[in-house]
This record gives sequence, structure tokens and C-alpha cells, in this order.
Amino acid sequence: MCGIIGYIGPRDVSSVLLGGLKRLEYRGYDSAGLTIKSPEGLVTFKAVGKIAELEKKVGGGNLKGDLGIAHTRWATHGEPNEINAHPHLDAKGEVAIVHNGIIENYYALKDFLTKEGFKIVSDTDSEIIAHLIQKFHNGSFPEAVAKALELIEGTFGLAVIQREENKIIAARRGSPLVLGLGEGEMFIASDVSAVLDYTKKIVYLNDDELAIVERDGYSVKNLKGEEVNKKVYEIKWTLDQIEKKGFKHFMLKEIFEQPEAVINTLRGRVKEGKIKLSLDLDLNSLRRIVIVACGTSWHSALIGKYLLEKNTDIPVEVDYASEFRYRDPLVNKNDLVIVISQSGETADTLAALKEAKAKGAKTLGIINVVGSTIAREVEMGIYSHAGPEIGVASTKAFTVQVIDLLLLALFLRQEKGLKPEKTIINDLEVLPEKIKEVLKQSDNIRKLAKKFVNCKNIIYLGRGLNFPVALEGALKLKEISYIHAEGYPAAEMKHGPIALVDKNMPVMFIATQDGTYEKILSNMEEIKARGGEIIAIINKEDKRISRLTDNIIKVPSVSNELMPIINAVPMQFFAYHVADLKGIDMDKPRNLAKSVTVE
Ligand code: G6P
Repeated sequence: MCGIIGYIGPRDVSSVLLGGLKRLEYRGYDSAGLTIKSPEGLVTFKAVGKIAELEKKVGGGNLKGDLGIAHTRWATHGEPNEINAHPHLDAKGEVAIVHNGIIENYYALKDFLTKEGFKIVSDTDSEIIAHLIQKFHNGSFPEAVAKALELIEGTFGLAVIQREENKIIAARRGSPLVLGLGEGEMFIASDVSAVLDYTKKIVYLNDDELAIVERDGYSVKNLKGEEVNKKVYEIKWTLDQIEKKGFKHFMLKEIFEQPEAVINTLRGRVKEGKIKLSLDLDLNSLRRIVIVACGTSWHSALIGKYLLEKNTDIPVEVDYASEFRYRDPLVNKNDLVIVISQSGETADTLAALKEAKAKGAKTLGIINVVGSTIAREVEMGIYSHAGPEIGVASTKAFTVQVIDLLLLALFLRQEKGLKPEKTIINDLEVLPEKIKEVLKQSDNIRKLAKKFVNCKNIIYLGRGLNFPVALEGALKLKEISYIHAEGYPAAEMKHGPIALVDKNMPVMFIATQDGTYEKILSNMEEIKARGGEIIAIINKEDKRISRLTDNIIKVPSVSNELMPIINAVPMQFFAYHVADLKGIDMDKPRNLAKSVTVE
């Protein structure tokens, strides 16, 4: 996610800013920039890609200044390029800002500024803040910032500098921001890790607080202008602990980030029972949907097939991107080809997309990384908003892909004149809380993981919407614990895998209550009769399965359409804990890459 660092003090400003940006790299970013207040005015450098690129542009040592602000950007509005990278300046070069968060009334403010003659040059929502502050700057710089913030709806972690002012203004609503206190120097950052090399004394800003930061001191006010007394914290964490927010691994952190990822993905897309997506689709000519993807994204595609067919009556096929690209696929202008990719860079998925385009199909992307190659190549898209995923095994990206597919299914249903079922809309709203309930099970699942840590094989079974979850559970386990695992539709078990079942072959059932619950119970009895050990994910109200096995993971109930998300979380935990107990660094499992850009 985006990162902010600001500095005022006697050290070489550009070195402090570049050092801070490097500390923020772990959060993921696609471009970076900095502005320094120098004797010549505000001097800005920006670069796409790594901080090293920005460093090359800044050059060594010649840039003198008193203070500066810098930013790593993870694109949300507009692709990653130098114009969209922060800092953003007003047209006169008087004010520079770096911003994390989303301005929800961006279009209204942009219209307002444009009518007043301001020229907006980037595609970002952030740039308008610089223009607003410059417009209101008529004497007091902090007041101009406060006035601009009054107009903004949405979230911000903001740092602002002005050509004539020896201070940095920082403000927060919804996006974290801290002050780092030094001796004769001060820091501002979105994340403690950016300043920890210099100071361990930290002040955390709360929402709707504005800090005026000078070389020898700071003051914090609320947006009404009243002084606020702030507590100074002494940080004891190591840098590594901070980057992972105190979690042992990125994967665990990302599992815990799922409620937030769901909130971000739903933001602005469900309003008053209606689904809002900006897609240009002619349903009259749409004959078929084909979804192509790889790995975990292919599993969310399988769930998407169920969701889309149920809601739209349009036939849906799912294909591995690597197969689709080489089999001279039968697609044409009446087909919609959906490509799903967390990274937006997977070589097979990109090639499949090109094949679909060459055959005249319409294309739609469900992509997490804004401005990635696939995101640029598709005709239309729905961004996932999972935030950067660093652990190689995909977790939160899977969850939000399923949400995007459900939103798409409900949107197409709506376009056909049918309302979405009210329960689904309600359940989407409570989903983050329900996921939080599952997150509380981490310790229980670790106990189960201890019991099965030495097994050599494990079968995952599920039916209907939970069959792809079984595939995903098996993939998670094999990729990070190196235990052989296979996912199957539960009923298919009797056509082969059941031959493998004995006391050494645990079977993980996804057995939450839906239309196939009774059938799953029969499948469990079959395993039990053959001496197999059952692990079961069940609804917390379920009493029947508890009689068949002690290895139980209880989850809350939501609409069937959302159960794959709820059920995937215990699978992620199980794989994580088994891998951790085996001492494997599951953030970087052997032989695997986060983004597979080769065939
Ligand atoms: C790699 C990753 C998987 C991911 C797959 C597809 O194999 O390790 O976690 O699911 O690529 O990646 P994509 O970025 O296209 O979703």
C-alpha cells in the first residue's frame, strides 16, 4: 500500500527520504517520488518502479534543502506513471502533498476546481488536495490545509509542504500517520518502520487531527482548531516485527487482513441494494462467458462459474490459461472472456487474454495490481482492492476475487432487470465481521495442525460451491507445507481416491450446511467405515458431524454464495500452521514465485 515519509532537520533531506522509502518497500508499490524545499523552491523527482530508479534521478548529494516529503504509490486511481506518482503540486509549484487514502467526492471537487480554472494534470484523486490548499492559502498555511480538508469526503493520511514555510503539515482520517520525534529534527510517516532508524519516540495521530511539525517541535490540533495533548510512545519492536505488523509471517498478516480487504473491495460498489460497476456490456449479444486464470485465481474462477450461471443464466466455462492459449479456443465476438489474476502479470493469463482479443471476444479483467500489464490490456475491469499481497501463497486476493465475481454476477442479474436477493446484500455487509469470527479460530486450528503435521498425504473434499474450496485448500497445503494434498468433489471420491483411504490418510471435509449436506454426511460415513481420519469444517450450529469426528473447525453461517470465503479461511490457517510447525518459510516456499512471468 502507499507509504509516506516526511523530514525536517539538519541531515541530508533526500538521503533520509530515500532511506525511509526503502523501509516502506515491503508494503508493495509501483512508483515513488519526493519533493524537497530547497533555496530554489520546491524540487520534485518521481520514478516508476523501484526506489533505486528514484535514487538515480535524485543523484547524489547536490540537492540541498531544509525539509521534504516522499511517497511510495500503490495505484488505485490511474495507472502507475510519473504524472500519477506523488508528490502532487499545484500549478504554481507552491504546495506539494503526499496522500494515502481515497477521496470519495473526487469528481465533484475536480469539477469545482476545473470551473475555477485549475488544471488537473494527473488521473489521481490526490492531486486536487494540492490545488485546494493553494487556493485557500491566504495568510495561514495550517488554516489553508484545514479548510481544504473540510471539503474532502473519504480517507486521508496527508503530508503537505509549502514553498515559503519551514514546516510540514500532517493530517489523518482513516489512513495511519505518525510523528517521529528527534533532537532538533522531526519525521512524519505512514508507518513506524520508515523512521525507526532515526528515532524510537513516536506520536500516533488520530482521525481528524492535524499536526504542525517544525524542526524543534510540533503541535497537534483537531480539525476544529483545538489543541490536543498527545502521548509519546517508545517503540520496542524490531523493524521486521513492524513490517509484518507483529505477525510472524506476511502470510499470517494477509490472512488477518481479509476483513479489511473485503471492505475495500465493496466500497462504493453496493449502494441501497444496488450493485455499482462501470462496465460497458451488451447483454443481448452475450452468448457465453469463459473465465481463464492460473493457480488460486483459477479456483476463484470455478466459484465464479457457479455464481454467474445461477444469477445470469448465461453458460460459463472455466479454463486454465495455459490450456486455453494453445487449444485454438472457440471464442468470438459474442463471448465475454474474463481473466483473473492477482498480479496482472502471469504470462499464461496474458497470452490467453491476447488470444481471446485476437478472436474478437470481449474481455474483462479481475485484477489486484492496478496498471499491471493485464489490467492495461483488458477492455474493462473490476479491480480487487486486496492491497499488496507479499506471501507467495495467495489468501486475501482469493477472497476478494470471489467477491468481485459475485458482484459481477449480481450486476449482470440487475442489468437483466432482476433484483439481487436481499439476504446476499445483507450478508455482504456483515461478511467482514463473520470473517473476523473465523480469524479467532487460529489457535484451535494450530492444535489440529499439530496432530496432522507429520502426515504424508491428505484429501480435501467438498461439493458444489465448496468443491473449488477443497481444491484451494489442497493447493495451499501442498504449496507451503510440501505435504501431498488433493482436492476432489466429494462424490467423486468413490471413483478412485477412496482406494487410498486408511488410518494414515486424513480427509478434510468442507461440510457446512447447504443443499448437499446430507450427501456429504454419507461421504463421511464411507470414509469412517474405512478407518480414515476425518477433519471437518462445519457450521457452528451443527450437532450431527461432531458425533463422527473430534477434528472439528466451526464457522459462522452466511448465504451459500459467501460460504466459500468463510470456508477458505480455516484452510489457509491449517496450511499456514502446518508449514510453520515444520519450520518452513511459507512466505517464500521452495520452487514457487509470486508472479509467474514465464511460460
Ligand atoms: C503463482 C502464485 C499463485 C497464484 C498464481 C496465479 O503460481 O504462486 O499464488 O495463484 O501464480 O497468479 P495471478 O497473479 O495470475 O493470480
